[in-house]
Amino acid sequence: MKNPFVYGKVARGESFADRKRELAELSSDILSGQNVILFSPRRYGKTSLILEVLERVRAQGVLTVYLDLFKVVSEGDFVSAYAREVARLCGGGIRTALRRIRSLLPRLVPKVVLRGEDIEAELEFEFDLRGEREPLLGDLFEAVATLAGERGKRAVVVFDEFQELAGWDEGERVQRHMRAHFQHHEEVSYIFLGSKRHLMEEIFQNKNRPFYRFGKHFPLGKIPEGEFAEFIQARFAATGFRVEEGVAERILAVTENHPYYTQLLCHVLWDRLRDERLVTPEHVDAGVEEVLSREAHAFHDMWDTLPLKARQLLVALAKEGDPRVEIYSARFLQQHNLGPASSVQRALARLLSDEILERVDGAYEFTDVFFKRWLRREFVP
Ligand SMILES: Nc1ncnc2c1ncn2[C@@H]1O[C@H](COP(=O)(O)OP(=O)(O)OP(=O)(O)O)[C@@H](O)[C@H]1O
Ligand SMILES: [Mg+2]
Repeated sequence: MKNPFVYGKVARGESFADRKRELAELSSDILSGQNVILFSPRRYGKTSLILEVLERVRAQGVLTVYLDLFKVVSEGDFVSAYAREVARLCGGGIRTALRRIRSLLPRLVPKVVLRGEDIEAELEFEFDLRGEREPLLGDLFEAVATLAGERGKRAVVVFDEFQELAGWDEGERVQRHMRAHFQHHEEVSYIFLGSKRHLMEEIFQNKNRPFYRFGKHFPLGKIPEGEFAEFIQARFAATGFRVEEGVAERILAVTENHPYYTQLLCHVLWDRLRDERLVTPEHVDAGVEEVLSREAHAFHDMWDTLPLKARQLLVALAKEGDPRVEIYSARFLQQHNLGPASSVQRALARLLSDEILERVDGAYEFTDVFFKRWLRREFVP
């Protein structure tokens, strides 16, 4: 029997817990053409959520485009990926799609490619980025709105890991073009996903940037405890497990409701107990130990790469236990022998950029709850 808990890939269908409010709100935003900026720390479930939303609105006749910019590292890649999505929307047989594509994107040369053993044709595009780019990007950024208009439908375009675009040399210029076109599209909702908070803020909250105030900000939180506990119980029960009282709560206390780590811990528990099919609170503790020993190697490696001051700061934070502690207060600096505030500031910047810590509602949280536990185990007497 297959382990019902998934981690490390998007959670869909039965693996997807709750988020009813977010599903409803995002679907209605899309149906009203609202632009949305959806952000959260790493692995809270942005991608899973938006893919669920897209499936729902697609069933209501909305044209949907999803682009993951994580794999797109240059303007050329971006043009190809976007054009492929437009081609997919054109639908129909390859001939019809080609005809349509030629009129929507006249500056791109489509090529039919056959992949692998299957006789499945895909379109790829050739284009010249040395020429004038404005018309090329213009065609691209109008294409979805044009298709939606022709068919009398609404559309949604999702850019996952949007902050990646800020890293390319051409990023700012591409964004300016996007905004110039997107702002006129009432029938299309544009959704931007990102996890690097400082980059997302820079893109959407800086007055001098093209996407300043472009949409509604939608911070995604963790999954509420009650719903997540029900989900855990139901998934165990569906595979014939008995779960003692208090188990789900214990799991969520360890993982602090973090979606990814909750699924990871449940996955490990399910594997360990697949024969006896009974989970008790003691099993949860043993499961946590197993996760820690599995991950210890990675934690050591990460630790080795950090400068001394960063390590000292992490240990101090793990000892304090309170993510809202005033890092620059004289009390904190002295108690943990951290030296001058300026060097702590550098260490903190490093930990934030390495995504070992993240800022959540004014607090400094460990991105990895198991790393925090490991630190406590190793360094806190
Ligand atoms: N609604 C959910 N129900 C259950 N588990 C979830 C849910 N959303 C996310 N998860 C868990 O969290 C993991 C990460 O989800 P996902 O990749 O969607 O997050 P993300 O915020 O897009 O992450 P990243 O910042 O890495 O892009 C999934 O593999 C799954 O284990
Ligand atoms: Mg994601």
